[in-house]
Amino acid sequence: MSRTRTAIFSAMALVAGVTGTALSAGPASAGATAVPCTVDYKTNDWGSGFTADVTIKNNGAAKSSWSLKWSYAGNQRVTSGWNAKITQSGAHVTATNESYNGSLPTGGSVNFGFQGTYSGSNAIPATFTLDGVACNVDDGGGDSGPGEPGPGDGTRVDNPYAGAKVYVNPEWSAKAAAEPGGSRVSNQPTGVWMDRIAAINGVNGGMGLRAHLDEALRQKGSGEQVIQVVIYDLPGRDCAALASNGELGPTEIDKYKTQFIDPIAAIMSDPKYASLRIVTTIEIDSLPNLVTNAGSRATATPQCDTMKANGNYVKGVGYALAKLGKIPNVYNYIDAGHHGWIGWDDNFGPSADVFKQAATSEGASVDDVAGFITNTANYSALKEDNFSISDQVNGVSVRQSKWVDWNQYTDELSFAQAFRQKLVSVGFNQNIGMLIDTSRNGWGGSARPAGPGPQTSVDAYVDGGRYDRRINPGNWCNQAGAGLGERPKANPAAGIDAYVWMKPPGESDGSSSEIPNDEGKGFDRMCDPTYGGNARNGNSMSGALPNAPVSGHWFSAQFQELMRNAYPPLS
Ligand code: GLC
Repeated sequence: MSRTRTAIFSAMALVAGVTGTALSAGPASAGATAVPCTVDYKTNDWGSGFTADVTIKNNGAAKSSWSLKWSYAGNQRVTSGWNAKITQSGAHVTATNESYNGSLPTGGSVNFGFQGTYSGSNAIPATFTLDGVACNVDDGGGDSGPGEPGPGDGTRVDNPYAGAKVYVNPEWSAKAAAEPGGSRVSNQPTGVWMDRIAAINGVNGGMGLRAHLDEALRQKGSGEQVIQVVIYDLPGRDCAALASNGELGPTEIDKYKTQFIDPIAAIMSDPKYASLRIVTTIEIDSLPNLVTNAGSRATATPQCDTMKANGNYVKGVGYALAKLGKIPNVYNYIDAGHHGWIGWDDNFGPSADVFKQAATSEGASVDDVAGFITNTANYSALKEDNFSISDQVNGVSVRQSKWVDWNQYTDELSFAQAFRQKLVSVGFNQNIGMLIDTSRNGWGGSARPAGPGPQTSVDAYVDGGRYDRRINPGNWCNQAGAGLGERPKANPAAGIDAYVWMKPPGESDGSSSEIPNDEGKGFDRMCDPTYGGNARNGNSMSGALPNAPVSGHWFSAQFQELMRNAYPPLS
């Protein structure tokens, strides 16, 4: 069980008594300018441990360094922190600035956080002093319990992509530009993946989340700026495959919350970044796996059964939505698979239901959801022009073709639009928007059919006309023949907020043979071109390119092929 506590007015009154400041009774914010500083101290606790999120506002003279002190009435112990150096001696705690956040101008704020343990009660400290001067405790007027719309939420726009530039990740851009011909696409925006705890601070000297947000501010200039951040580290990650297994074991939900989501939220909520539109993509593939790859399905895996039984996918997604949804300039998009997965009747409604369940767990509400993303890191064609779901050949529906196999959708666009309606019907907000990952679903090049297939049978008709040249729509790893898809753009179609390149083209989906690594990544034979498949791809060949590196690593040969087969073609 977890509870969220926020500093409340009675705490402020108590401080007023301690400091002797004559504050009249009234909303906390009314007193905020009358005191040298305010401290907003919020905790999320679960009976034995907690995280704290602390924001200091300086109403006095500008500072170039700062030190905040408080004392606990109980046995709370700080175990680790971020964005401040925190020491504890007995009940007394001191938090001092890091080298990068010492500057605190008049009217400015700074935010830091930490984890701690306790037993008994976890009362909010009565007194805080900033450089020796007592602050009052303020609930800030801008925070709210998870799920309640806070005052700041009103600043969200309907579609964050409308009228905005989208962040170009300099690290991806450099890799793309280093490829022959790569400069044709290296200025395209791609997703920034937080795919492990270490990614928050940057892996192997690379950019961490703050570095990306700082660079996004620089790219912003005076216009509007989106930055796309993929949140991807659930316990027991990738339960139906091995290639993107992660660092957290199936039961490590507390670690996910306190060492992954909380620090990300602390950084994103830094007032410095308030002018950015931060788009998050929440946990690729996780919830759909609970629907299609667990329980009595022939496709079930023991790992997905475990994640369904322990509830940690639902809890993790709920927690991420609640925590990030409290930040007024964050737009959460939940991953919703793709049409070749969720497009069957048995999966469509149940997936919408599990999304609703997650979005109303752990303090989240549907107001924490801006929309959904489909086709992330997948290859499903955006729009199949050469056949549609209502077509028949000699009185036989294309739904009976081997390729469509009774699915209700033939492409991503029709699926995403229909799924949006379904999500609204189960209780998501009317104004949710969809994103479609078009990074690798172009299917151009010489194998692209010029027109519909022959009307000799539904199979000849569908197979002859379809742009998607995969052996089976269940294939997902480094697909041979794929090309870059539509370039990222806002408002491309009704109900669609944007086409995006969430998966950075050129980054592998998984290694084609076993490669030892320290990322928790396994070897999935769906990435091995010699593999004959399993129940999840109709026991077909994998269609994967050979010689691929571990997932997420740069795969030059794939990048070259994606450029060659781009559709629309690269100029
Ligand atoms: C895969 C990898 C992950 C990487 C992402 C983007 O899901 O598992 O580490 O960040 O792809 O390329």
